Amino acid sequence: MNTEDLGNSKILNLLFKPAGMLMGSRARGWLMNPVKTLQGAGIQPGQTVLEVGCGTGFFTIPAAGLIGDQGNLVAMDALSDYTKRVSTKVQSAGLKNVRVVKRDALDTGLDTASIDKVLLFGVIPFPSLPLNQLLPEMHRVLKTEGTLAVWLFPVSGWVPKSIVRSGLFKYIHKRNGVYNYRRC
Ligand SMILES: C[S@@+](CC[C@H](N)C(=O)[O-])C[C@H]1O[C@@H](n2cnc3c(N)ncnc32)[C@H](O)[C@@H]1O
Repeated sequence: MNTEDLGNSKILNLLFKPAGMLMGSRARGWLMNPVKTLQGAGIQPGQTVLEVGCGTGFFTIPAAGLIGDQGNLVAMDALSDYTKRVSTKVQSAGLKNVRVVKRDALDTGLDTASIDKVLLFGVIPFPSLPLNQLLPEMHRVLKTEGTLAVWLFPVSGWVPKSIVRSGLFKYIHKRNGVYNYRRC
C-alpha cells in the first residue's frame, strides 16, 4: 500500500486517532519516563536514528536530546495528523536534528546502510507493520553494525522470537524493557 493510501486507511485512522489522545496525554508522562526507556535502547550522541511510527512524539523529543546536535533523528509516521503535531513540537523546541517524514515504514525511501539505530517503540505488533515486510526494510536501511531497539506495547512474547527467527537480527539484551538486536 502506498503512503497516501495507508494514511487514509480506515483501520489506521480508527485505531490511532483516538489512541493519539492517550499517546500524547500527560498521564502517560507520569506513568512512564520516556528517557529511561530510550536509555534502554543505548542511543549514543551523534548517531543517526530512525524512529518508526513516531505518533504524537512522546519519544521523539527526548530521543533528539539524547542524540544531540551532531546526530540525526528521522521521525516517521504514516498519518499526517501525527507528522504535523510532531513537526510543531520539534519547531517549538528549536530542534535542528530531527527530520519528520510522512511515509509508510515498510518502504522508507531511506538510503541503504544509512541508519545506526532503528527504534520500534510501541508500533509492533500491528497489521500495518507486518514483521515479514518491516524487518527486511529495517535490515536494509541499517548500517552493518546497526542495531534495532524494540519496546513492545502490548507485550507480545512471540514478537522477540519472530525477530530472531527472521535470521536478520541477533538478540543482544533487554534493558529497561527494551529488546536490543544487532543486524546480522
Ligand atoms: C501505537 S502508536 C505509537 C506511537 C509512538 N511510537 C508512541 O509510543 O507514542 C503507532 C504509530 O505507528 C504508526 N504507524 C502504523 N503503521 C505504520 C506504517 N506502516 N508506517 C509508518 N507509521 C505507521 C501509526 O500512525 C501510529 O502513530
